[in-house]
Amino acid sequence: MIHFGGDYNPEQWPEKVWAEDVELMRRAGVNLVTVGVFAWARLQPAPEEFDFGWLDRVLGLLGDGGIGVCLATPTASPPPWFTRLHPDAMPVTADRVRLTHGSRDTYCVNAPAYRAACARITRELAARYAGHDAVRLWHVHNEYGTTCYCDHCAAGFRSWLADRHGDLAGLNEAWSTAFWSQGYGDWAEVLPPRATQYLGNPAHLLDYRRFVSDAMLAHYLSQRSILRVSDAPVTTNFVLGGWVPVDHARWAREVDLVAIDDYPSSVDHLAERAFAADRARGWARDGRWLLMEHAPPIDPAQARPAALTYLDRGATGIMYFQWRQSRGGAEQWHPAIVPHQGPDTPVFAAISALGAEVAGRAPVTVTATAALIYDEQTMWAWQSPHLPAGGLDYEATCRRWHQAIGGIVDVVPPSAPLGRYRLVVAPLLYLLPAAGHRALRDYVRGGGTLVLTFASGLVDGCCRATPGALDDLIGARVVRHVLPQPGETGHRWLDDVEPAGATVLMRTPDGRPLLLEHRYGAGVVRYLATDLDDPRPSLPTNETR
Ligand code: GLA
Ligand code: ZN
Repeated sequence: MIHFGGDYNPEQWPEKVWAEDVELMRRAGVNLVTVGVFAWARLQPAPEEFDFGWLDRVLGLLGDGGIGVCLATPTASPPPWFTRLHPDAMPVTADRVRLTHGSRDTYCVNAPAYRAACARITRELAARYAGHDAVRLWHVHNEYGTTCYCDHCAAGFRSWLADRHGDLAGLNEAWSTAFWSQGYGDWAEVLPPRATQYLGNPAHLLDYRRFVSDAMLAHYLSQRSILRVSDAPVTTNFVLGGWVPVDHARWAREVDLVAIDDYPSSVDHLAERAFAADRARGWARDGRWLLMEHAPPIDPAQARPAALTYLDRGATGIMYFQWRQSRGGAEQWHPAIVPHQGPDTPVFAAISALGAEVAGRAPVTVTATAALIYDEQTMWAWQSPHLPAGGLDYEATCRRWHQAIGGIVDVVPPSAPLGRYRLVVAPLLYLLPAAGHRALRDYVRGGGTLVLTFASGLVDGCCRATPGALDDLIGARVVRHVLPQPGETGHRWLDDVEPAGATVLMRTPDGRPLLLEHRYGAGVVRYLATDLDDPRPSLPTNETR
């Protein structure tokens, strides 16, 4: 069975609407709805007051209607009473502005009061609904992503750093603090990367992203352990994007089902959806994943191709944000399955038709022969304050390669087992720790075909330059990075390479090597020295892989 449905926020509507909702859901083929994501203030109107009666009735109506529930913990949006009692649990920006409620996601995951309040509401929900027939899945929190720079975070960061780097000498070494007089002599001097005068230290910034990801993961795990009184699987919805401080490859090991939200931002929405879907499958251990949210399309004709793109790539469910369009509030104009104009509308008709079609399908098992390496830590490193060239977009470049390889491609982190693929493409792998080096070499030695590009392996896991680190693998020496001068058009980056064992397959008009091929162990490595808008000519053909 394929899950079909979306976010349902009945607390925004009078009870008389609920019965109609269930009736319409049945008409639309909906079989799963996510309930309670932003209902904390309704569930716990005051610190010592809980109100679950309304949720009992909602779950009862849904259960009676045969509709499953993905029950959320509401911790992404603490109520105003919480702020009033615990101002220290509100997030602080890098500029040291303490935020207040008024939107959502306004919390610091490292604040003890917030952690305690989250555990409490989760315990209440778990105790009440663990055995409920309608509950099929737990949805912890929503789109983890708030970065905070407060003093609680500073304390957490220090102990995270001590675990990672040992002592201050280790930290100073890892962060190259000899540069600009940043040597730390006392842990109290180590701070989150708050606003500073000029460029920050890339290693400091990268470690902070890693720390925030781990701190949020600890928050998720504390809720997951409470929810384990229930037999239903536990997950959280991953949101994708350069600002997100979540290492999804790491998190994917801790969710019972990988679930993503996908909101393409370009007109080429199907290519973006395919890339998101292939990433979700790459994170999932068994290839099964759920599309937890996407937007009902403005053009109803887009609903079907969008859904099929996900389903063909192993999605076990197609869910929308949201069921009924909100009358007021910050997202009152966000599209919905039941828009303000009601069910007698093109969008409701299109999604109902899709619901009927999806009901006849089962999740597909996908076997890809090609993989694209996509690494969120590398994406973060590409946001470093100082790079050889600006204007390179890691995410967009990976998407271009994904499209160039074509068909269904597993998009995997560098830690994934690569042996099963005939082709592995790793664009712009700027950040390459020792484990990544080993994985790439083992793959090629074992007979794989690897495509690497310029700007790869330039730094280690601490953003320290590692010149020549890939030379043996690519069979060439990268002698300099030729970057466009102001006003110059054409390439954004060209590596000047001297072949040392590799064959040159393509050259620039003035004779510089552009594409190299090198035999290594039982396999082959290709190295593309520049960025191509369409990288297809640099890929080996199917027959030669
Ligand atoms: C995210 C959130 C939803 C909603 C949608 C709007 O996916 O989880 O609550 O804000 O975006 O696109
Ligand atoms: Zn904080």
